[in-house]
Amino acid sequence: MRRNPMLCRIQSQARMPGRWRSELAAVLVTRAQLEQRVRELSEMIQRDFADRELVVVALLTGTIVFLADLIRRLTLPLRLDFIGVSSYGNRTVPGQLNFTKELRLDVCGRDVLVVDDILDTGQTLSRVLARLRLLEPRTIKVCVLLEKQARRTEKIQADYVGFSVPDLFVVGYGLDFAERYRNLPFIGVLKREVYQAS
Ligand code: IMP
Ligand code: MG
Repeated sequence: MRRNPMLCRIQSQARMPGRWRSELAAVLVTRAQLEQRVRELSEMIQRDFADRELVVVALLTGTIVFLADLIRRLTLPLRLDFIGVSSYGNRTVPGQLNFTKELRLDVCGRDVLVVDDILDTGQTLSRVLARLRLLEPRTIKVCVLLEKQARRTEKIQADYVGFSVPDLFVVGYGLDFAERYRNLPFIGVLKREVYQAS
């Protein structure tokens, strides 16, 4: 089900709103590109799950903006639930993974679509998928907005990928650094000095 994730090229500095120039090095994915790709992803999901009732399981908190845009484009019947995981404190390297919210919907025998913001080392999604499998859903598919192939340590692939991005720390459109930048309407590259300073 994996279909040509777009490989990102860094956009020119000229597109960066002035407000963010001191903290962000570049715009990686523009608002228009996000809109277009989310539309494509929703069309694929709509086609693949036609006539089925989906349980969308989104990982908190980085998915919120992407998830809202994605599901409002779906017309198939779906139920939505969240799993809370946190693996980052104020750092940009993976740490210990904590489950902060458990699933409440019963997914036994259901078709589950797991939505995450970014597939990086794969440790988060591997742990989440292992936990979900114990609940015996009929199928599990994974949809991520971004993936960084360079840092993968787990044997895991997403079924739907928005964009493949280089090994840079990115923020915006739901993705954060220390809970900031989630509200940016584009994906930007955080300057090294910003995360090295904290
Ligand atoms: P993984 O367990 O290494 O695959 O990391 C997945 C999680 O790390 C994501 O859900 C994000 O919360 C976070 N993460 C990884 N890379 C980035 C990044 O470049 N920006 C913001 N968050 C990231
Ligand atoms: Mg996350």
